[in-house]
Amino acid sequence: MPHEVRGVVALEPKKPVRVETIVVPDPGPGEALIDVQACGVCHTDLHYREGGINDEFPFLLGHEAAGVVEAVGDGVTEIEPGDFVVLNWRAVCGECRSCRKGKPQYCFSTANATQPMTLADGTPLSPALGIGAFADKTLVAAGQATKVNAAARPAAAGLLGCGVMAGFGAAAYTGGVGRGDTIAVFGCGGVGDAAIAAAKLNGARTIIAVDLDPTKLAWATDFGATHTVNASETDPVEAVRALTGGYGADICVEAVGNPSVLEQCLFARDLAGTVVQVGVPTPDMTFPALPMVEFFGHGGALKPSWYGDCLPSRDFPALIELYLQGRFDLDRFVSEEIALDDVEAAFHKMERGEVLRSVVVL
Ligand SMILES: NC(=O)c1ccc[n+]([C@@H]2O[C@H](COP(=O)([O-])OP(=O)(O)OC[C@H]3O[C@@H](n4cnc5c(N)ncnc54)[C@H](O)[C@@H]3O)[C@@H](O)[C@H]2O)c1
Ligand SMILES: [Zn+2]
Ligand SMILES: [Zn+2]
Repeated sequence: MPHEVRGVVALEPKKPVRVETIVVPDPGPGEALIDVQACGVCHTDLHYREGGINDEFPFLLGHEAAGVVEAVGDGVTEIEPGDFVVLNWRAVCGECRSCRKGKPQYCFSTANATQPMTLADGTPLSPALGIGAFADKTLVAAGQATKVNAAARPAAAGLLGCGVMAGFGAAAYTGGVGRGDTIAVFGCGGVGDAAIAAAKLNGARTIIAVDLDPTKLAWATDFGATHTVNASETDPVEAVRALTGGYGADICVEAVGNPSVLEQCLFARDLAGTVVQVGVPTPDMTFPALPMVEFFGHGGALKPSWYGDCLPSRDFPALIELYLQGRFDLDRFVSEEIALDDVEAAFHKMERGEVLRSVVVL
C-alpha cells in the first residue's frame, strides 16, 4: 500500500518551497522504504529550488538524512527493517568501468530507487540527489542506506550523508592530509569545517581557516583551526604564506565554489602542494586565467573532489564511531533543529550565513 506523507517540494524555479502531500510506494526489488528521522538543509537543496541543477521540477528536496528502515524489497540483504541508517548518494554498482578498476569511490553508475514518488495527483517527483528526505518517509535504492550505530543522534548522524562527508573526505582522502602537514581551508561553512576537523584528526600541524565572516572563523577555531584569516581584511595568499614559513600550505581546500578563491588556493600552496576543489561551481564560472608556466612551475596537483572521494559503506560507520567516542564533533554542525514547515526560512538563514546546518527533525 502506498504511503501518503508530508514532503517539502519545489514546484517551480525560484519560488518558495511548499509542504505537500506526497505518495511513497512500498519498496520494490532492491529498494528500501525509510522512516526519516532527521534531514539537514544543504546549499544544494537551494540550488535545486533555484533551477541551478536541472529543470526536472517538481523536486522533492532534502538529502542529508538519517532514519530507520521500515521495509525492504526483494533481494535486499545488506539492511533489514529496524536498522538505523544514514542515507547516501553513492550506492556503488560494482560493475562500471571505475568499480572494475578498483575505484568504487568514483562509481559512474550509482543506484537510486526505480519507482517514482509522486504528488497526490500522480505527478512524479525528482528527489534531490536521488534521495528526497524532507519527508516523513522516502524510497531509496537499498545501497543508499548505510547502517550505522543506532546510539548516534539522528540530527547529527544525517549530516554525514552529504556536506560533512564531502568536506571531511576532501581533506582526508582527496587532499591526503596527514601528520605534520600544513593545510588552509578556504570557506568555513559545514563543508570547510568538516575539512578542518579531518585535518585535526589526521594530525595536521598548521590548520588555517580562511573566510570573510568573523563568526565563521570563530566556529572554525572550535573545529580545530590553529589560525584564522579574514579574507575581507587581509590578502589571504600572503597571510597563508606568512603562517607557513613563507612557503604556502601543503594542501589548500577550496570550499566556496568561486574562481577567485580557487586562484587564491593555487598561489597559497607550497611547491608540489595540492589544491582540492570541493566547492561546486555554477555553469557560468570559468577557470582562472593564469600563465601556464605558473601551473607547471608550482608542480603538485589540482584535484576536484566529488563527495570527498568517500565510500559510504566504509566511512559512515567509522565516522559515527569516532563521533560516539567524542573524537569527531558532529553535534557542533547542528545549529538548530526545525520542522518541515521551516525549510524555506532555513534557506534564508543559510543565505545570511547565520547557521552551519539547520536540521529538520521529524
Ligand atoms: N563536492 C561535493 O561533493 C560537495 C558536497 C556538498 C557540498 N559541496 C559544496 O561545498 C561548498 C560549501 O558548502 P557549505 O555547505 O559549507 O556552504 P556555506 O555557504 O555554508 O559555506 C561557504 C562559506 O564560504 C565563505 N565564503 C564565501 N565567499 C568567500 C570568499 N571569497 N573567501 C573565503 N570564504 C568565503 C562563506 O562566508 C561561508 O562561510 C558549496 O559550493 C557546496 O555546494 C560540495
Ligand atoms: Zn560502479
Ligand atoms: Zn548536500
